Amino acid sequence: MDKTVVNAKHVQKIYGKKGENQSHALRGISFSMQEGEFVGIMGPSGSGKTTLLNIISTLDKATGGIVEIAGTDITKMKQRELSDFRSRKLGFIFQDFNLLENLTIYENIALPLSLQGIPSKKIGPKVEKAAEMLDISSLLPKYPAEVSGGQKQRSAAARALVHEPAIILADEPTGALDSKNATTLLEAMQNLNKKQGISIMMVTHDPYSASYCQRILFIQDGKLNKEIHRGGSREAFYKEILEVIADIGAHKA
Ligand SMILES: Nc1ncnc2c1ncn2[C@@H]1O[C@H](COP(=O)(O)OP(=O)(O)O)[C@@H](O)[C@H]1O
Ligand SMILES: [Mg+2]
Repeated sequence: MDKTVVNAKHVQKIYGKKGENQSHALRGISFSMQEGEFVGIMGPSGSGKTTLLNIISTLDKATGGIVEIAGTDITKMKQRELSDFRSRKLGFIFQDFNLLENLTIYENIALPLSLQGIPSKKIGPKVEKAAEMLDISSLLPKYPAEVSGGQKQRSAAARALVHEPAIILADEPTGALDSKNATTLLEAMQNLNKKQGISIMMVTHDPYSASYCQRILFIQDGKLNKEIHRGGSREAFYKEILEVIADIGAHKA
């Protein structure tokens, strides 16, 4: 049975106070995402992609509308509830990895579990399993400075899933990677989604990265402009994405 992991209704975001220079970043966006989906968010620079992801991430608040994550309305939650919800239910992958340099890869991946107060005995097997899924088992004793950019981002992906979140949220996760490492990461994310049924939402301006998704929402001027589903091969989807971009002009970062 399908379960809704994200339900966004008429989400609105206005930056700045009334009477000041206000910026309407989101103008009533509605969509939903089912458990086990891999959804991409595309759109030109300034269209509201990061704002939307930050609202779903609970890092920023909508000024209107409703956002439910895994059945919980996050728009009415208080700060403390939000940070607890975030650490239990969400996993994050950022463009610039966000690993802590003075912790080993093992300790970085373990962080979401140790922050929840899970005993270290129980943490070990979970970290090892996550590392295995991303093919970085041999890197666990190393420090971030000792591994490549691609390995850093796969470590960040392991950290994002180790606590079995309801959804992984990724903002331009391939933005700092060369094409070979980007492909390795995207294939790993695709595998996690297909084999483990992990729900992933990824913001990207890169059509190649987006072609790994099952469904893409195109936003423009803070509104949902178009939505496409991957029917056949990734290659065919890539072409379709390029066509949509040429059509609506949503091509720049
Ligand atoms: N903190 C902020 N204060 C004021 N305006 C902002 C802020 N963050 C984003 N914006 C504005 O909101 C719009 C959407 O930005 P953003 O979500 O970053 O777009 P994208 O990620 O698609 O490039 C832009 O016009 C941007 O200038
Ligand atoms: Mg952005």
